Amino acid sequence: MNVLIVGNGGREHALAWKIGQSPRVEQVYVAPGNAGTAEDAVNVNLAADDFPALIDFARTNAVGLTVVGPEAPLAEGIVDAFQAAKLRVFGPTRKAARLEASKVFCKQLLRHADVPSADFQIFRNAEDAEQFILERYPEEGQVAPVVVKAAGLAAGKGVIVCSHREDALQAIDRIARQEEFGEAGREMVIEERLDGQEASVLAITDGRTLLTLPPAQDHKPAYDQDLGPNTGGMGAYSPAPLVDEALQSWINEHVFVPTVHALKRSRTPFQGVLYAGLMLTRQGPKVLEYNVRFGDPECQPILMRLQSDLVEVLELAVDGRLDQAEPLRWDPRPAVCVVMASEGYPGSYATGKPIRGLAEAAQLPDVKVFHAGTAERNGQIVNAGGRVLGVTALGDSIAEAKQQAYKAVRCIRWEGAWCRKDISDKALA
Ligand code: AMP
Ligand code: GLY
Repeated sequence: MNVLIVGNGGREHALAWKIGQSPRVEQVYVAPGNAGTAEDAVNVNLAADDFPALIDFARTNAVGLTVVGPEAPLAEGIVDAFQAAKLRVFGPTRKAARLEASKVFCKQLLRHADVPSADFQIFRNAEDAEQFILERYPEEGQVAPVVVKAAGLAAGKGVIVCSHREDALQAIDRIARQEEFGEAGREMVIEERLDGQEASVLAITDGRTLLTLPPAQDHKPAYDQDLGPNTGGMGAYSPAPLVDEALQSWINEHVFVPTVHALKRSRTPFQGVLYAGLMLTRQGPKVLEYNVRFGDPECQPILMRLQSDLVEVLELAVDGRLDQAEPLRWDPRPAVCVVMASEGYPGSYATGKPIRGLAEAAQLPDVKVFHAGTAERNGQIVNAGGRVLGVTALGDSIAEAKQQAYKAVRCIRWEGAWCRKDISDKALA
């Protein structure tokens, strides 16, 4: 069987690498892919949102399974299009993908399903939102621990965490008057601000049965000690010791199971990856958001540890037979992924800088360098995006995995390359 992976980031490189190891698979294609997927698979020069062309490619190349990496094509209905063409595809339908694409849909579903989450209100215009804040926080400069969110997809940027009344008013202004996040800000969610450590817990589901993956922790802020602007994620590690087995079962029972049931009841059965972004508060875990796909970069350390055949599991999920899956087998060693980024990211950055030392890094034991924003130009690999590489390593402990990942990072250089130096330190604290 041939497999098609849709996307071009570090997550898709990790998927291509892992799926390529399956004895069930002859050829892995990635559309459009990057310089790393070109090494481990075959790139297809088709955009992730060109559904007719992707369907045509799948038909003419004996693709038996398509795996969709990013949220945008899922939200636009790529799975519905493939299903209508009678092609097997892993991921949720457009309706089910609203769990990520609409924070209003997500919050309402969580409330109905009785899944712990922050208290919230929905607003459709600036005046009502401002009035809510002014009534609740009547004094100038008053402490206001709220979070103001653009309800639609905003590449992780439409969330503004506030401390004071004025921050909240400014956030409403940015979302609803300046329309900084465009369409995504047509509806707003204002919710209570939660405190605690964050963890990502992912589960593969066919809509009935759940296969929970070991917990991971992302590092969203750009700089060490969680300072600076938010990014897509500057590194991740798995397993996250903060979510022990007892907590993991609690999350299964109180978060995933009621969510999957609520989706089924509302006639939007969910097939794919359910990714719960959790805040571990003093009152227990609460869902900050759902994503409807593998996390990037969480996917990289998670798949580095997976010993089972991923394709077998994905096929069972697509066919609605996940209850027949064997328990997943994992390398007992933890994995750490350090993202190397272009100078200027998450703001604007220059591309086309030649990257050196990739071969040297690849020679280190227990290391895999996943590519994200890379491209090949005249036989040279250059940076082509903000997040460029996900340097991932296994080790006997998190400290050792971290050390090995940074050893590989030190082999690699290009003009302006940088990374956080403290990935996984939260686990060691
Ligand atoms: P989201 O895209 O909704 O997960 O939000 C992105 C980030 O904003 C999260 O990873 C948290 O760091 C932060 N955040 C979102 N909602 C809350 C909340 N209710 N309380 C505190 N922080 C939040
Ligand atoms: N790592 C965060 C995300 O994939 O959305």
